[in-house]
Amino acid sequence: MGKLIVVAGIKGGVGKTTTARNLSLALAANGVNTVAVDSDPQGSMRAFFAQRSIDTVDTVSCIHDPYAAGLKNRLIKLAEGYDRVVVDCGGRDTEALRRSCEAAGATGGTVVIPVMATQECMDAFAGMVAVVRSAREDYPDLKACVFVNMAPTHALDQSAEATATGLAENFADLDVMQTRLKQRSAWQASGFAASAIWDVPTKDSKASDEFNLLVAELATKGAI
Ligand SMILES: Nc1ncnc2c1ncn2[C@@H]1O[C@H](COP(=O)(O)OP(=O)(O)OP(=O)(O)O)[C@@H](O)[C@H]1O
Ligand SMILES: [Mg+2]
Repeated sequence: MGKLIVVAGIKGGVGKTTTARNLSLALAANGVNTVAVDSDPQGSMRAFFAQRSIDTVDTVSCIHDPYAAGLKNRLIKLAEGYDRVVVDCGGRDTEALRRSCEAAGATGGTVVIPVMATQECMDAFAGMVAVVRSAREDYPDLKACVFVNMAPTHALDQSAEATATGLAENFADLDVMQTRLKQRSAWQASGFAASAIWDVPTKDSKASDEFNLLVAELATKGAI
């Protein structure tokens, strides 16, 4: 029996899809039998993986399943056939989000929550924590990891650090990652090229290095 890694958040545009597609590719590159599920009606992750199959580069299968009815059981069933099922949930508090989190709990899996160091993101965060806590009523061992994404690169900007500290203080039942992904143009480039972050030709490997650190930290915590 494999497990689910649900990349989720109620705030839009924080990096859920970029995280989910790169986590899927990173797991697959490490020999983990992985399938991706795009449960967002927007279908961004499906489009990314569809382009990769056209480009015939190494990829993982991606199922587009934006239907809440029966989603939980379909996800659990998938985890019987794969080591890891990586789910990209759309923004907003939806049935699909809730059922995906429950399915993660049922498989001993994890909810991974990217956040940005903005007031708007913090305002929406309590809603996501409520979703995790609701799933934990039935699945108390559901892991929930949060990390700061798109952290400002300016050396004097402390907002990402302050956000991580504030999250750790206010939400002791979540695991706040030490690793933060900074605002890097390579992420947009990876979308245009349907590339893994480590395959984007850039002047440096900072975005890819940060992502590798995040994957390593999640692995150390037994979260992926
Ligand atoms: N660390 C980063 N630095 C710079 N840009 C980033 C970073 N992470 C993600 N992005 C960019 O931010 C945009 C939004 O990312 P993404 O689509 O993954 O967010 P999302 O949370 O899935 O959005 P939605 O709620 O619409 O599904 C994309 O253009 C992506 O390339
Ligand atoms: Mg998305």
